[in-house]
This record gives sequence, structure tokens and C-alpha cells, in this order.
Amino acid sequence: MTESIDIDHQDRDWIADRHAHYATLRAECPVVFNEHHGGFWMITDYESVAAVARDNETFAHKYEPDAPDGIDYHGICGIPRPAQTPRMGVSEIDGPAHADLRRVLNPRMVTKAVEASRSRMEHISAWFLDELIESGDADLVLDYATPVPGVLTLEMVGMPSTNWRYYADFFHATSSYRPGDEEFQAAVARVGDMWVELGDYVRFRRESPGDDLTTEIIAASIDGRSLDDDEIVGILWNLVAGGLDTTTSLVSWGLHHLGTHPEDRRRLIDDPSLVPGAVEEFLRFYSPSESLTRTATRDVELGGRRIKRGDVVFISWVSANHDPEMFDDADEVVIDQVENKHLGFGLGGHRCIGSNIARVESELMIGDVLRRLPDYEIDLDRFRPYPGNVLMTGVVTMPVTFTPGARSGVDDPFG
Ligand code: HEM
Repeated sequence: MTESIDIDHQDRDWIADRHAHYATLRAECPVVFNEHHGGFWMITDYESVAAVARDNETFAHKYEPDAPDGIDYHGICGIPRPAQTPRMGVSEIDGPAHADLRRVLNPRMVTKAVEASRSRMEHISAWFLDELIESGDADLVLDYATPVPGVLTLEMVGMPSTNWRYYADFFHATSSYRPGDEEFQAAVARVGDMWVELGDYVRFRRESPGDDLTTEIIAASIDGRSLDDDEIVGILWNLVAGGLDTTTSLVSWGLHHLGTHPEDRRRLIDDPSLVPGAVEEFLRFYSPSESLTRTATRDVELGGRRIKRGDVVFISWVSANHDPEMFDDADEVVIDQVENKHLGFGLGGHRCIGSNIARVESELMIGDVLRRLPDYEIDLDRFRPYPGNVLMTGVVTMPVTFTPGARSGVDDPFG
């Protein structure tokens, strides 16, 4: 059994070839200590990733450096945790406060609520396609897959949705580049300003309550008390980050796949009832949220190895989702995959709370593009995926051409 490894999983070349690296790790040492970045465990096979994700008591999510129990709780944001990364106010708390908060968020996330907002989703999707459909060329990431979830997420928290580009640019830069990259550093330099702006927004909502999630969080009692402005900003940060970049990435990769696999595109156009299954398969294969980290709260055995209290544990959803022990043809996109217990939304008590929203938005957006731009062709020379960030995958830009069509004529949703 390989005792330990020493690899920089943040290195751009490593990331570029990560599927091959993950396959080797899964086969040779699925639970292994990596000496790099101060030392942490790398968990890559489905069974072990699922075991960690299910056990929130042993593998904490919370971010609490120098906690009273002596553990440096590292949070979920990667190894090393980039400086200036604020606490993600839902993901990086545990215990009763986390359970209470999910109870407050849930009513807007359950299937019934998502179905009630379907007509708004259709409207926003139709509008952004109207804005490009007469021209015959567009960027499906920048002009469509980014603004639609951006607007819908900001509306959910009650913020002015015409600001979508401001937030999208920030979360795209921090998701697509690595700490140290110029684009990443430029974005994180804005963290302070954004924190202040979100704080101003929370204070505004305290004065002027609306029909939105922020107002509901302000009114909530979490673990027996009201939350302060900073705590609410952290929650908004998590919701906006979660709602913006991941859905954009999923839709972008899905449209890339369909743009490069004409037989799959034809099947979905001929039979739109296959779209939801295809979305599940894109979630498995691409896993927009690729990996996260946890902190061990006690000594524990996993995969024959002894993880110690306080150790940092890196779990790779994308590697688990490519585990051949779990999925036939794991390295192929099988749009009608039957058994698809993927971990694209995570698992356990912190499983993605926005999964219903993400599914409906993605199905609707991919369906709308196939219906209205059925012959789109990707300019593969100008197509650019994220250059490398071990936590997220996505697409920076995807220029396409297509036969121009007619506007649907929906009203300006911002008018
Ligand atoms: C394709 C789209 C999406 C993907 C792939 C995705 C993936 C994930 C994953 C892997 C987790 C972590 C689970 C864990 O730590 O065990 C997560 C958590 C979370 N997601 Fe999503 N997500 C998506 C869309 C959304 C949307 C649309 C929202 C908001 C409306 C959202 C909000 C959140 C929040 C708040 C959490 C933290 C939940 C908690 O810790 O209790 N996500 N997501």
C-alpha cells in the first residue's frame, strides 16, 4: 500500500491531466496522505468519498481556525485555503445552527417552490435568447449560461438583478483561476468592497423587508438567536456563489458536449424527455463542483488508513463520479445512463440545498437552446475551458454561430 505521495494537485499541468491522475490514485491508493501544502488526505474512490460526505460529525465542514478544542477547522475551500476567502455561511458551519439555517432556506428550495418559479425561469431564459437569436452568433457562456442563473439567483435573495454581471465576473474569476493567478488576485482584491456592499444590502432589507430569502434569513431564529449582519452576508455569499457559477458550468459543459456530439444532440432534439437524464449525466461526468475539503474531528480509520484528529481531508466528487467500480463506461457521457447515483451535488447533511433549482434551470436552458438554436456550431478554436482550479470546472468562453431565428417576444423582464 502506498504510504504517502507528494503531488501539487493545484498545479496547472496536474489539473489538465487530473482524470488520469485520479484514475491512478483510485486504483493504487484511494485514501492516501499527500505531503504537499502542509499535508492532507486525498480521497478519490466513490465508496470512501461517500463515507466521508455522510459523516459530518467525524468530518467537519466548519471554518474555525484555532477553535477552543484545539483543532484548526479548515472549512471546505481547498488546500491551501486562499487568503481573503470569506466564510461560506451555509457550507462552513455545522451542528444545530446549520440545521436551523437549512430549515429557513428550504421552503424556497423544495420542488413545489421551484415549480412555482418555473414561469419566471422560462421568461428569463427566453429573454436572453431573444437578445442574441437574430444575430446568428453569440457566446453561449457569456451571453446566456451566465446571465440566466445570475439573474434568477439575485432575484431569489432580493437583490437588484441587473447587477448580475458584477457578481458573475467575480465568482467566475475565483472559480476558474487559481490563487496566485492575476485574474484570481484581481477578483479577491474586491472581496472587501463586496463584503461592504452586501452588508449595506442586509441593512437595507432590515429597514425595507421584501418577499425574498434575505428578509426571511433576517427574521429567522438560528440556534436560539437572530443573526448579525456579517453572518447574513456570509450566507448570501454562499447562496450567490452556489447559484451562479455551478449552474453556468453545468449548462456550458452540457452544451459543449451536445455541440461536439451530433448524435446525442439529435436524440435530445427528437425526444426532449431525455433532457433530464442527460442533465444528470452531465452532473456526473463534469461535476462542476469538483472537490471540497473537511477536517477530521477524531481519529478514524478509512480505507485501511488511520486519519488523525485535526487532519485535513480532500474529497473529490469528480473522481468518485468516474469510479469504474460504480459506473459502467465511467469515462464516457452516456446520456441515457440508467443507474446514476452521482455525487455531483454532494451527499449527506450538507448536500447541495439548491439542487432542485439547478436541475430545473439546467433542463430548461439546455432544452431552450436545442429548440431555438438547434444547429449551433461551436468555434472550437476560440472555445476556452477554465484554465485550472481544482475545486471547480467550467467554461470561460464558447463562441457559436447558428441560423438566425425570431424573437419570442417576451417582455423585457427588467422593464
Ligand atoms: C449544477 C449546479 C450545482 C452544483 C453542481 C452544486 C454542487 C454543490 C455541492 C457539491 C455542494 C456541497 C455539498 C457538500 O458539501 O457535501 C453544494 C452545496 C451548496 N449549494 Fe450547490 N450546486 C449547484 C447549484 C446550486 C444552486 C442553484 C444554489 C442556490 C440556489 C446552491 C447553493 C448551495 C448551498 C447554499 C450549499 C451549501 C449547503 C450546505 O452546506 O448545507 N447550489 N452544492
